[in-house]
Amino acid sequence: MEVFDAVRTALAVRSYEDRPVPEETVRRILEAGRLTASSMNKQPWHFIVVRDRDTLRQLGSLVSTGPYIVQAPMAIAVAVDRNNRFSVSDGSRAVQSMVLTAWSEGVGSNWVGFAGGLENVKPLLGIPDGLDVLTIVTFGYPAQPGGRGRKNRKPLSEIAHRERFGQPIE
Ligand SMILES: Cc1cc2nc3c(=O)[nH]c(=O)nc-3n(C[C@H](O)[C@H](O)[C@H](O)COP(=O)(O)O)c2cc1C
Repeated sequence: MEVFDAVRTALAVRSYEDRPVPEETVRRILEAGRLTASSMNKQPWHFIVVRDRDTLRQLGSLVSTGPYIVQAPMAIAVAVDRNNRFSVSDGSRAVQSMVLTAWSEGVGSNWVGFAGGLENVKPLLGIPDGLDVLTIVTFGYPAQPGGRGRKNRKPLSEIAHRERFGQPIE
């Protein structure tokens, strides 16, 4: 899949088929995160792959905005260095690499939660104090195919400017 096509068609996927994501695909998703650029190349991230059903069930009840984690075949918790002020940017870029790589292999995903609001999952995953949980990203084959390409986004005319703010791009 072309990069632009992946960006154009990827949507948040919150319900999944009951089949595992192959280990080879999981490795590729992790590699996409690992290879992402970061500020000063600090790579301030850790990726915790969760496939265990009971852990996914517990995550689903701990994270109020992601009850469907329980239904996902796999999730990756992204933990970032608390003392690095670029951690959120760096970690978010790594997530985007992983999301697009997954999508290019037919695997849907969604970002759940945000740094600061996920402290309660740290004991469950054994995440040390020096790290913040940036997000838990769910992954799986979409239960409803069909969603591709239907985006609800602001038009370019509303958010893009030529040379100076307020000058139309067209
Ligand atoms: C920083 C961030 C936090 C998000 N938090 C949640 C969340 O807690 N729960 C959830 O279901 N989706 C969450 N999302 C997913 C967004 O709701 C979703 O990407 C957005 O509505 C666009 O969806 P679409 O690509 O299907 O149009 C989050 C996305 C981002 C980037």
